[in-house]
Amino acid sequence: MQQEQIIELLTQKDAKKKKSRIPARLDYLQSATGLLLAIFMIFHMLFVSTILISKDFMLAVTKAFELSFIFEGGSSVPVFISIAIVFVIFIAHALLAMRKFPISYREYKRLKIHANLMNHADTKLWMIQAGTGFALFFLGSIHLYTMLTNPGNIGPYASSDRVYSDLMWPLYILLLIAVEFHGAIGLYRLSMKWGWFDKGDGKETRAKLKKAKIVLSGVMLVLGFATLFAYMQIGQEHKASYGERYYNETYPMEQK
Ligand code: HEM
Repeated sequence: MQQEQIIELLTQKDAKKKKSRIPARLDYLQSATGLLLAIFMIFHMLFVSTILISKDFMLAVTKAFELSFIFEGGSSVPVFISIAIVFVIFIAHALLAMRKFPISYREYKRLKIHANLMNHADTKLWMIQAGTGFALFFLGSIHLYTMLTNPGNIGPYASSDRVYSDLMWPLYILLLIAVEFHGAIGLYRLSMKWGWFDKGDGKETRAKLKKAKIVLSGVMLVLGFATLFAYMQIGQEHKASYGERYYNETYPMEQK
């Protein structure tokens, strides 16, 4: 078994002398984890932006994630498990993506000169995706680790206190910009790569997908900044009572 792996590694051909399928499998896994994360991010935005409707609505969504219809008052365990799953997918996606990064200054320079020479729009998009992806290694990990260690500390006041008083907002601004560009470009490139919406006219499909990419990142950025601003405003108003949780008649006491 190990011998077969060594031969495949050195010759890039498997035991039957066929071209190794490992790079294609890794590519497929990278696409699959990216797609999962992009879908997650769309739902994540819908959930966090419930604060724009009302504090009560955001509390109800939080309590649904805490499975309060099963555990009285809600439990932070299901939230912790969901965050851990997302974190594992996030790390797997980053690990798979690392294969494509230029690893030396010479490689980077070669890529940049090539992109400029060809003036190829999609190669430039790839460079933006690699840059935002690199930023996400750090920004995304800080956010995910903070959520993982505070699964019971999500809610209208708890989140606003974190955004405003715990000074998470500068990180969220950068994270929001990086993730929305990265996600929208990623979905565009995935659709082109696997030909999901291709009806035979490549040029027309590309132009339509490019428009969809701009609309998606635009909508997500506007919604994201409006949401962030709402948390900051509530956090500022609530700063004197930092740490105090929001509750209402349906959920008289929040899970700690
Ligand atoms: C299951 C995992 C996750 C949970 C439970 C979660 C939860 C939250 C919550 C509750 C907020 C509101 C602010 C706060 O409470 O601090 C928030 C904001 C944010 N999260 Fe996440 N998050 C998760 C994963 C991610 C990932 C993977 C990313 C991107 C890499 C991300 C990006 C953001 C951004 C950009 C904001 C600020 C958005 C805004 O206010 O418009 N989150 N998240």
